[in-house]
Amino acid sequence: MKEWTVSKVRASKGARRLGCVTAYDACFARLADEAGVPIVLVGDSLGMNVLGYDTTLPVEMSDTLAAVKAVSRAVKSAMVVGDMPFGSYQCGDDEAMKNAVAIMKAGADAVKLEGGARVASLIRRMTEAGIPVLAHVGMTPQSVNAYGGFKKQGKTPEAAAKVREEAKAVEAAGAFAVTLECIPSELAAEITKALSIVTVGIGAGPDCDAQWLVMHDLLGLNEKTPSFVKKYAELAGVVRGAFAKYVEEVSTRQFP
Ligand code: KIV
Repeated sequence: MKEWTVSKVRASKGARRLGCVTAYDACFARLADEAGVPIVLVGDSLGMNVLGYDTTLPVEMSDTLAAVKAVSRAVKSAMVVGDMPFGSYQCGDDEAMKNAVAIMKAGADAVKLEGGARVASLIRRMTEAGIPVLAHVGMTPQSVNAYGGFKKQGKTPEAAAKVREEAKAVEAAGAFAVTLECIPSELAAEITKALSIVTVGIGAGPDCDAQWLVMHDLLGLNEKTPSFVKKYAELAGVVRGAFAKYVEEVSTRQFP
């Protein structure tokens, strides 16, 4: 068994805050794992950060499976979570189960999917089948067209009540953790207190049990990032500089 299991993640609540990241390939996943990252998410943000799309919607099961295989080959200690792409769980629970099983067979230790009450029975069915589920409520990027953009959710009392209900629904359905994305800090703090499962925040303030950052944002590979991001490196400039120096040295016969 890996060091980071569902029970270890559950036990972290109230004891230790977990800094978790996305990764989409073996190289960066290995580095994150060696650095002690507890959960590596093969996020559907793959679509934007690796495949060049504007949203997560075009990501296919085949993209996810290739990335989960690469990441899980490289990771020794961290829990690997495979994000279910748009369309892989919206067209019927039997198909959703087949796709979740395929993600687990590709090497994931758990799956993530977006939604609250709408996906509660599916979460129950998955957990009963031995597939741990990390849920995702608040701003769910696969609903970008319904929102009319990547907009903060839960801002009015009615909208906050809806996010609260969604979080409770996924907990009751058996999710071992829940992502709270782009909601007001006070709401995330309140939900974190009210739930017995781990909350993993992103753009949701400082009071969640754990935190996500998208790898390309954290490392500064993305130069434009959301305002809540902290860059722990500025790799875009380093990488561009290295490519430019290489091109120059080849053209001026300094290399090889
Ligand atoms: O795909 C993704 O990057 C996510 C975030 C919540 C980390 O789902």
